[in-house]
Amino acid sequence: MAPIRKIKNYHYVLLVLVGLIYLGSRTVPPVVTPPLPALSARQQGNQFVGSAACLSCHKDIVESHLLTAHYRTSRPASATSIKGSFKPGKNKFVYNKLAEVDMESKDDGFWQIGYWNGTPLQSCRFDIVIGSGKNGQTYLYWKDDYLYQLPVSYYVPLNEWGNSPGYPKTFPLFTRQIPAHCLECHGTYARAEVVPDSGTRYPGREIMYGVDCERCHGPGGDHVTWHANHPGEKTGKYILDANLMGRQQRLDACALCHSGARKELKPTFSFQTGDTLDQFSTAAYSMDSLSNLDVHGNQYGLLVSSKCFQKSDQMDCSSCHNVHVNEANNLQVFSQRCMKCHNGKDHPFCTMPQVVKSQLTSNCIDCHMPLLPSQKIFMQMSDSSRSRPDLIRTHRIAVYAANTKKFMKSIH
Ligand code: HEC
Ligand code: HEC
Ligand code: HEC
Ligand code: HEC
Ligand code: HEC
Ligand code: HEC
Ligand code: HEC
Repeated sequence: MAPIRKIKNYHYVLLVLVGLIYLGSRTVPPVVTPPLPALSARQQGNQFVGSAACLSCHKDIVESHLLTAHYRTSRPASATSIKGSFKPGKNKFVYNKLAEVDMESKDDGFWQIGYWNGTPLQSCRFDIVIGSGKNGQTYLYWKDDYLYQLPVSYYVPLNEWGNSPGYPKTFPLFTRQIPAHCLECHGTYARAEVVPDSGTRYPGREIMYGVDCERCHGPGGDHVTWHANHPGEKTGKYILDANLMGRQQRLDACALCHSGARKELKPTFSFQTGDTLDQFSTAAYSMDSLSNLDVHGNQYGLLVSSKCFQKSDQMDCSSCHNVHVNEANNLQVFSQRCMKCHNGKDHPFCTMPQVVKSQLTSNCIDCHMPLLPSQKIFMQMSDSSRSRPDLIRTHRIAVYAANTKKFMKSIH
């Protein structure tokens, strides 16, 4: 046995050497270290401390992160976090002649009041806002230590109140409980327990709002304490170094929330960056049915089905996104990231002949990652059966003939 193993090892060393020479000749720093062990195995005793605790040493990142959709995706309800209007004339959602909900601002907060035939049925307060307000927001209220969804949500593209998805279309209900699942994707942490026959309880109402630093970097207590006591130290201690993570670990850190609904194998909030996602939950889609994936919330599945991803060995979400900064709608910045690879040298430049280069280069996105309507998410609007789908950027990067036509029209 021994000689065979020796030969294998020798080949392995050779491969690594060739690999190092190859990688060393490229500009991107190579990832040659094996992926980090799972964080969940290492974080015993480490505490969440919140992003205010990062400010003294990572000022720029903390300040720009405050403006991101991640940070704002869940917040306590307030005049600034609620996007919908409370002005008379704009503060109603009307189902039909008999049923409506009024949105009212009072001294003790903001309220939704359900009416049936002019008689108030139930009123509940806006306590928590879910959604940064990019496409829509929905609102939650506390009853004891349980969370429920309010009947009326807000739909940003039309600037109107709309029926909360999943509720009846003809009258207001206040009964939809919020499982920890919502907060696992729309928050950093929530202490939750499932009580048989009662649903999900949040003891002490302990919730860390927003997708904050520690959602992606893991609890930072030990890191903060250590660096506060060692101000000269230039290397990050007790915190994951994203550059040392394997590609799948880096992708999984985003796929947790960006690969659609998943089937849970372990309790909510047990996955942490650095872990292998498939050990915690499995995708609710099969890799054979990627062409049927909805654009809503499944950027991971769609990206993985693209040639861009399949034919490059390093691409992950950070190839195009700097998550510390709000870069929404800055299509020129994103197009520059396409051209880092598609520069005509490493990978082919666009082969569309009719467009001059300057027009192409400021916007690769509308032709190759067009906004497509979600097949799943519709919002029912007031007083009629109007409903509108959400428009979402597809992450299946490809050639889209119809969208190319539309783009050509728009520039001529
Ligand atoms: C007392 C100073 C201090 C505080 C407070 C602090 N850090 Fe750091 N952090 C550092 C230093 C020093 C480094 C290493 C240099 C660098 O990468 O900026 C670092 C590096 C990092 C890195 C990169 C790790 C790597 O090796 O690439 C992350 C991620 C990080 N910190 C996250 C956080 C988060 C999240 C918080 C708040 C919970 C925080 N830090 C609070 C000093 C601090
Ligand atoms: C804990 C769940 C969670 C994780 C982890 C997460 N995201 Fe998100 N992300 C969200 C949610 C929720 C939204 C929608 C926020 C909103 O508008 O309310 C979002 C929005 C975004 C947006 C749109 C921002 C905008 O302003 O248009 C981008 C881009 C994004 N995420 C990229 C990433 C990347 C890249 C990673 C991994 C490094 C990641 N996300 C990890 C939950 C998450
Ligand atoms: C698997 C992760 C995940 C779960 C679970 C989840 N969401 Fe989301 N949600 C997202 C992502 C990601 C987006 C960003 C839009 C997109 O990519 O389609 C989003 C968008 C939203 C938006 C619109 C935000 C905006 O600013 O436009 C609302 C409102 C919302 N979700 C509410 C909920 C509620 C309520 C629940 C629980 C019933 C829930 N979500 C469960 C990941 C999730
Ligand atoms: C949605 C996930 C996500 C959130 C939220 C997030 N980060 Fe990061 N962070 C990343 C990723 C991914 C990288 C690695 C980027 C790369 O490889 O290009 C990173 C890198 C870093 C680094 C080291 C490299 C650098 O860019 O300086 C620091 C320090 C850091 N993050 C601090 C923070 C702090 C502080 C916050 C909160 C204010 C925060 N991060 C929020 C995902 C996140
Ligand atoms: C990390 C490098 C990388 C980045 C960044 C990148 N691509 Fe690609 N892309 C590739 C590779 C590799 C291929 C496969 C080329 C080949 O066929 O050899 C590809 C293929 C494509 C194709 C052909 C798809 C098909 O189905 O035939 C298009 C279109 C494309 N990319 C557009 C884009 C756009 C637009 C962006 C930015 C939003 C982008 N790419 C970002 C590496 C990248
Ligand atoms: C090749 C470049 C590229 C890669 C790789 C990429 N994205 Fe994006 N992403 C974009 C562009 C371009 C947009 C549109 C930005 C805009 O319009 O504001 C976008 C938008 C988004 C949005 C907002 C979607 C919407 O319409 O509301 C989310 C969420 C997102 N990306 C998550 C991810 C995640 C998670 C990954 C990794 C699985 C990823 N992206 C990888 C280029 C990329
Ligand atoms: C006006 C719409 C439009 C714009 C803008 C555009 N493309 Fe294209 N692109 C196309 C069409 C259409 C094709 C297919 C052309 C053909 O038939 O060869 C294509 C082909 C490609 C291909 C495939 C090359 C191959 O291997 O066959 C790549 C890669 C690509 N584009 C990248 C980009 C990048 C990067 C940008 C931004 C710098 C961009 N495109 C801007 C419409 C567009």
